[in-house]
Order: sequence, then structure tokens, then C-alpha cells
Amino acid sequence: MNYSMGNMKIQQIFYKNTLRNFCYLIRFDDGAIYCIDPFGGGEVLSALKGHTLQAILNTHDHCDHWSGNEVLIREYDCDVMAHNEAKVPGKTKSLGHGDIVHQAGEWQLEAVFAPGHTMSHLCFLMKKSGAPYALFTGDCFFNAGVGNCHNGGSAPVLYQTISELFSKWPDELLIYPGHEYLKRNLQFTIHCEPDNAKAGEFLNRIQGQNLDEIFYINTMHTEREFNTFLRLNNSTIKKTLNLESADPEKVFLTLREWRNKW
Ligand SMILES: [Fe+2]
Repeated sequence: MNYSMGNMKIQQIFYKNTLRNFCYLIRFDDGAIYCIDPFGGGEVLSALKGHTLQAILNTHDHCDHWSGNEVLIREYDCDVMAHNEAKVPGKTKSLGHGDIVHQAGEWQLEAVFAPGHTMSHLCFLMKKSGAPYALFTGDCFFNAGVGNCHNGGSAPVLYQTISELFSKWPDELLIYPGHEYLKRNLQFTIHCEPDNAKAGEFLNRIQGQNLDEIFYINTMHTEREFNTFLRLNNSTIKKTLNLESADPEKVFLTLREWRNKW
């Protein structure tokens, strides 16, 4: 699926694998193309249609986010960028919080340190004329959910990232996650917050749709309406968890535990 904003284009590639990975191609005004989290290289080669690739960006070092690196490096001899501590194949450049990946015209892509799913996880923030426009979240944040922490992560650290970083993003920010888990996550929202009308409406809307073919790009505004992990003070959720007087961190950690087993 293509999203075009003037000369800047975002192409979303969906792999119909069990983990339901997304990969993204970003083409800037000046023609430079970046690939975020290639699960497979062949699909990226096809999507590039003869254009060259400037660099691969890996949000983190779980293999479903870099297994396409080798094919693409062989074809394009491109840079591979990831966090200093992330063990990804072919890395040529380490990125830290605030590092600018590319700038062309009014668009700028920068690295955002977002630990918790792993301790060396980056998100990538696209800014338009200096304002946050779109966020590529890897496995830190999903539509209606957040990443797990069982493979090198830390739930308290993820809580810090979500509560401090994500609470500041503007409502209009577009979210491009690393996996397609929308329906399952909305069902979890209803499980924890049965009276969430927005989640119910969205579930009705996607009922019967082929979610291998139709994808939704949510804004932070929408996420704030039905992402349980952003609704830590909600009285229904706290009641469901039997945590009516608990602080937000306890609610978050309990939700993460529930989602792990759900
Ligand atoms: Fe991951």
C-alpha cells in the first residue's frame, strides 16, 4: 500500500507470515529510498522496481526485523543502521536518540530511542517542517497495543517509554507499526474495557474484512481512544484488573502480564 505526501512516499509491505510483519519503504523528495525492517528481501526488491536503496534501518535485533538484510546488502551494497547495541547483520552505522537519518526538502527522518521491547530499540520519526508527522514504531507500539518484553526486554522500561515518550506525541501523528495485530489487540481492549465504544465500532468495521489485504493507519488520537496501554487511569480497566487504587505503572505491568497470557 502506498501513502503519498507530495514527493515523499511511504510504501507499506505486508508479509503474510505467521508473525504478520510490516516493512516500510520511504522515498524522499531527492529520490533517496530507505527500508525499515525488511523481513524478506525479495518483496523489497520487487517493490523497488529497479530503484536503488540508500540504507536499511532496523528498529531492533529480533530476526523478523532483519532477515531480509543480507539479500538487500548483496544487491545494493547499502548502509545498515541500527542502535549501537543492536546485533543486526551488516550494520555500518550506529544511531542514537535524535540522530538524523536523512533530510530532504521539508521532510526529516530521525531516530528515537524507545527501549522496553528490547533495550536497544529505536523508532523512526518522520518530521514535516520540523513537526512530528509519522512514527515507525517497530515492536515498541502497535495498533491498539504495545510490544511484549520476553526476548531481551523489560516491562518497567517499556512503561517508561510509553508513558513519557508516547504521551507527548501529537494527536495527528500517524502510526506505522512493525506488525499487523489490530483485531486481536482490539479484542483485548474489549476484554479489559467492555464499554469502550470506539474499540467496539472499529471491531464491527473490520468484521469480515480480509486483514491480509486491508490495512489501517491509525493516528495517536485514535490510539488514545482504544489502546489499553494508553488508558491506564481508565476506571473500567482498573476495575477489570481489580486495581482500582493502583498507580499507572502497576496497571501497565498487569496489563502486559494479562496480554502475555491472553
Ligand atoms: Fe521484536
